Amino acid sequence: MQHHKGLPVLGLSRLSLLLLLLLGSNCRAAKILVLFPHASESHFAVMRTLVAELAGREHNVTVYGGHGLGERLERVAETVVAPEYDFWSNLQQHAAAGGSLEDLARLSDSRLRSSLAQVGAQALDHFLAQPSLQALLQLPSAEFDYDVIIVDYFYTEALLALGYKHNKPTIGIVSTDFGNYMNTVQEALVPVACSPIDFEAYTSELGFAARLANIRECISRRKQFHKEHYAAQEKLIRKHFKIAANVPQLQAQHLALLLLNTHVPLWTPRPLVQQIVPAGGLHIRGPRELPWHIKRYAEESRDGIIYMQLGNEQLCGQLPKEKLRILFEFIGGRKERFIWTCHDVTTLESLPKNSMIQHGVPQIDILAHPRVRAFIMNGDLLSLQEGIMRHVPMLGLPSFQNERKNMQLAVSLGVGLQLEQSNFTKAALDWALDELTTQQDYQLAIREVSSEFRDRPLGALANAMFWVNYVVRHKGGAAIRTRGIDIGSNQLHLFDLFVFYFALAIVICAVLVAVYFGVVYALQRKRNDAKLSKLS
Ligand SMILES: *[C@@H]1O[C@H](CO)[C@@H](O)[C@H](O)[C@H]1NC(C)=O
Ligand SMILES: *[C@@H]1O[C@H](CO)[C@@H](O)[C@H](O)[C@H]1NC(C)=O
Repeated sequence: MQHHKGLPVLGLSRLSLLLLLLLGSNCRAAKILVLFPHASESHFAVMRTLVAELAGREHNVTVYGGHGLGERLERVAETVVAPEYDFWSNLQQHAAAGGSLEDLARLSDSRLRSSLAQVGAQALDHFLAQPSLQALLQLPSAEFDYDVIIVDYFYTEALLALGYKHNKPTIGIVSTDFGNYMNTVQEALVPVACSPIDFEAYTSELGFAARLANIRECISRRKQFHKEHYAAQEKLIRKHFKIAANVPQLQAQHLALLLLNTHVPLWTPRPLVQQIVPAGGLHIRGPRELPWHIKRYAEESRDGIIYMQLGNEQLCGQLPKEKLRILFEFIGGRKERFIWTCHDVTTLESLPKNSMIQHGVPQIDILAHPRVRAFIMNGDLLSLQEGIMRHVPMLGLPSFQNERKNMQLAVSLGVGLQLEQSNFTKAALDWALDELTTQQDYQLAIREVSSEFRDRPLGALANAMFWVNYVVRHKGGAAIRTRGIDIGSNQLHLFDLFVFYFALAIVICAVLVAVYFGVVYALQRKRNDAKLSKLS
């Protein structure tokens, strides 16, 4: 009898032990420091979802950001760093002084990169110089009570020095197009022939000239990265952290994980190291109820809603007059209602009656409303993902190279249309919008693309969480860290070995030639000697 009684007790305790083990191994609550210096709406959307999810999973999160979360969350302590740094105006001043955004967009990639490096460093300097950040930076290691640091990885590499100072792992989130920015990490493992710089050039038939151009571009870009971007970041490290450290070294030792905000079919497959985790769409949570005024506005529109967000680069009030005139004429002539998200608070004169400007409502919630029929956008990668996830066909008006690439992708996937700046006319806009709202093909294609984008073992956010927790659980994820980051170009591309083998080949040839002539000479002498002895 006793034997029988004992069993269930044992079973229960075993069960609870198992549960405890499971819980213990899967969710160890951590103290997480989140640093998001950029005030841009799209980077911020990523931060908001991430922080809410981390806090929802019992982590204590401390956020320093260039933008407020806009809601109070349990287990989240937030410091908004004000004033906001006006990234795009400063970039424009730096790169195309006196010019317009179009002038900025027309700059060569290399000029733009150069300005991004300078202005990116200025933005981070502005962030780090604020009193709240200074207080954080001055903390001695004994009081720096965080397990992991998460940073928005966009011209912010200097922040790795914080992890270095206190020996804490750092996780980077790349919200922009990976191809433009993070290749220095990735190239460490990918032969350049498979990893062309431009998406359009992605083909297996790379001829000699294409590969030569690729490698030249790779090397010059890498040099520029080190000379301008990393150098500017290292200056910030010396200024704010009072240490001398170089960025590749910090990356090699303290970058635990790189979360990429992209995924197939929105990017081309390529070899990845385990440390690089594609979690495209991680900022897209389930839709929430809209505020009543927006909801009513949407529901009262018989002919549907067109949602518009033209990017963070420019305030709506700063759009060129001619462009604004065309836009208003176009909006005024449509039967649909327009909801326009602007970063600025100024009222726009002569805004057509069938449109409203809104602030502060996440576009993933607006796009989820069933009345929304099309999304007019600038071709930003995160917006593209949101449009796809919410099944809203897109009309892209891109200015920058990366936006154009994203829109070309959207067009090739059949989920949107692109208008060049030169084609920005009422007729073209009307044509494109009619096409998107009346043709069924876009709806069908977007459902397929969306279902493929979401089709993964874990959702984007759950995957990101898994890896963050992995880093917490396993000594900063040291085991998955690539050894290839801090490697020189000549080693990476085996140039030194090519030179070595070339030299070896020359030596072997020289020896063979010498032996040949030696033998010929010896034979000749023998023959001459024989002749001489015959004569004598
Ligand atoms: C998180 O904060 C709460 C409340 O301050 C505290 O009780 C808890 O121990 C903290 N958790 C961790 C992992 O630090
Ligand atoms: C310009 O717009 C027209 C519609 O008015 C469209 O047919 C054409 O393909 C567009 N061209 C470009 C280069 O976008």
